[in-house]
Amino acid sequence: MNKGDIHIDAGLRPKFLKDYIGQRKVREQIKLFIEASKRKGELLDHVLISGPPGLGKTTLAQIIANELGRNIIFTSGPILEKKGDLAGILSSLEEGDILFIDEIHRLNPSVEEALYPAIEEFRLDIVIGKGSSSRTVSISLPKFTLIGATTRAGMLTSPLLSRFGIVLNMDYYDEDSLKQIIKRSAVIIGIEISDDAAYEIAKRSRGTPRNANRLLKRVHDYAVVNGRETIDKDTAVKALTFLGIDEDGLDTTDRKYLDVLINKFNCRPVGLNTISSALSESKNTIEEIIEPYLLRKGYIQKTHKGRIPTEKAVKKFEK
Ligand SMILES: Nc1ncnc2c1ncn2[C@@H]1O[C@H](COP(=O)(O)OP(=O)(O)OP(=O)(O)O)[C@@H](O)[C@H]1O
Ligand SMILES: [Mg+2]
Repeated sequence: MNKGDIHIDAGLRPKFLKDYIGQRKVREQIKLFIEASKRKGELLDHVLISGPPGLGKTTLAQIIANELGRNIIFTSGPILEKKGDLAGILSSLEEGDILFIDEIHRLNPSVEEALYPAIEEFRLDIVIGKGSSSRTVSISLPKFTLIGATTRAGMLTSPLLSRFGIVLNMDYYDEDSLKQIIKRSAVIIGIEISDDAAYEIAKRSRGTPRNANRLLKRVHDYAVVNGRETIDKDTAVKALTFLGIDEDGLDTTDRKYLDVLINKFNCRPVGLNTISSALSESKNTIEEIIEPYLLRKGYIQKTHKGRIPTEKAVKKFEK
């Protein structure tokens, strides 16, 4: 990604709830809780946002902060390696701040334990000294709201999960919402695009706004180079084909994944490790990005013995 793209991405992020498209249930819920916290004059309870990558969890956290008019401090599970890292961040907070911990399922157990009293009683316990002469000192913290984001809610420990008063579960976007997101982004970037072209991109965006925005930019590139001022359906389809993305939103890696199951292993169950080495993709990418979409589209099944392709997948390759 070049600097121009990064700059554009920041501009595409909706800043307030009214611009947050789709996710109606989540939007209604958080809107009500924000309103309640304002009316009661109390801090918003701790929030957990869970859902697949690129659905807008970080964006929503920033929106919550904007709607409440609060500061937000960003960190993530893997960055907080030691208790001291957490203590450092917590002691820099001011009353009413929002602390955002991305990938909260990846917190180190000792850091997670230190987080419990911090979010429950706004207290930090620090052990001073070593061995028999050590003692615990409690420091009181300013009241704050924790927003945790996770792509794997199932990996959260139950003590941590139970400490979130508000849990927002995000799901993939429908095509109409994605189409609206694409049209909104096109206006911001200054691209002319027809309704059916936006819908064509939406259909192939795997239910994910991040993909929708990325595809819009690449289709735009194609249109610019091919001298098309407006992106119409024909341009969109040609560009998406050029990008190797088929009518179902499957890309080269997805097709290679299915090819491994169907042709290399003859539709026998295959384990994650084997697929990972066959594709040279990390297990994480396979489990978080590739497989959820193939499962949702009905191309694969997960059995206790491994992954198998469905009839639909086999038919697709016969074509
Ligand atoms: N509801 C929405 N309306 C419009 N645009 C959105 C919406 N949700 C997300 N986006 C766009 O999608 C991009 C990805 O969103 P974001 O980075 O918040 O996802 P994420 O869930 O935090 O992803 P990850 O799990 O990878 O951290 C943002 O840059 C934003 O422009
Ligand atoms: Mg994020």
